[in-house]
Amino acid sequence: MIDRKAVIVGAGGGIGAAVAQALEAQGYDAIHTVSRSDPGECSAHVTHWTSDYSDTSIARIGAAISGAPGRLERLVICNGVLQGDGFRPERALRQLDGDVTSHIFHANATIPMLWLGAFTDAIRGAEAPRVAVLSARVGSIEDNRLGGWYSYRASKAALNMMLRCASVEFTRINKRAQILAFHPGTVDTDLSRPFQRGVPEGKLFTPEFVASRLLTLLDGLGPSGELKYLDWDGQAIPF
Ligand SMILES: NC(=O)c1ccc[n+]([C@@H]2O[C@H](COP(=O)([O-])OP(=O)(O)OC[C@H]3O[C@@H](n4cnc5c(N)ncnc54)[C@H](OP(=O)(O)O)[C@@H]3O)[C@@H](O)[C@H]2O)c1
Repeated sequence: MIDRKAVIVGAGGGIGAAVAQALEAQGYDAIHTVSRSDPGECSAHVTHWTSDYSDTSIARIGAAISGAPGRLERLVICNGVLQGDGFRPERALRQLDGDVTSHIFHANATIPMLWLGAFTDAIRGAEAPRVAVLSARVGSIEDNRLGGWYSYRASKAALNMMLRCASVEFTRINKRAQILAFHPGTVDTDLSRPFQRGVPEGKLFTPEFVASRLLTLLDGLGPSGELKYLDWDGQAIPF
């Protein structure tokens, strides 16, 4: 019988793939992975869903996973964009481009929240659900001394605000629920690759290390009634 299930959204990314593997190693009965891409063959415990992250796709897949056997005890949402075709993080105001900023906000803040919305009913019925959404330290308003990266920073700050709202809502529907806005550190993935030059020795983490830190953190988090914003080491980050 399938007792508990875990969901990883953005499982095609470096961190998402490592989280899916780590959850499998933890022995979850059912793991649902979501990505824009199809990974091909999956192991027996894994069900993969391909999504274009449109509102309708998110609602449809969210409902299907929610209705699948097992209580939703772990939900990890990894979506995030820093640069792409024809755009890089802005260093100055005059580099701002409205379409690019909208695209980054949609990917980094709106899409993760649409997923959370799609899983509200599953959170209500879960035993002790732990939700992690990949944020970033650069989304901290208080911690911002360097400036730059306008769209990425602001999209993660917007994500944190919406996660704070969601924490209030989830606590109302399930007192045992807890949400974590997670900063993974600098991790060796496609997202960080162009920006790794200045990273100090020993501070460029593997996705596997960070996935293991994240799951350990989630296992140890009690329901606090408020959003936690923590780094890979469990240290609190000011909002
Ligand atoms: N790597 C770092 O140093 C670092 C530092 C701080 C925070 N983070 C955060 O960690 C998360 C995971 O990033 P990563 O390092 O694993 O990078 P990655 O390998 O480039 O993965 C990117 C992630 O974003 C999703 N994604 C890509 N383009 C998207 C789009 N247009 N719309 C919606 N989703 C999209 C991917 O999902 P698919 O499965 O659909 O491809 C994947 O989950 C991000 O939220 C990032 O901001 C990373």
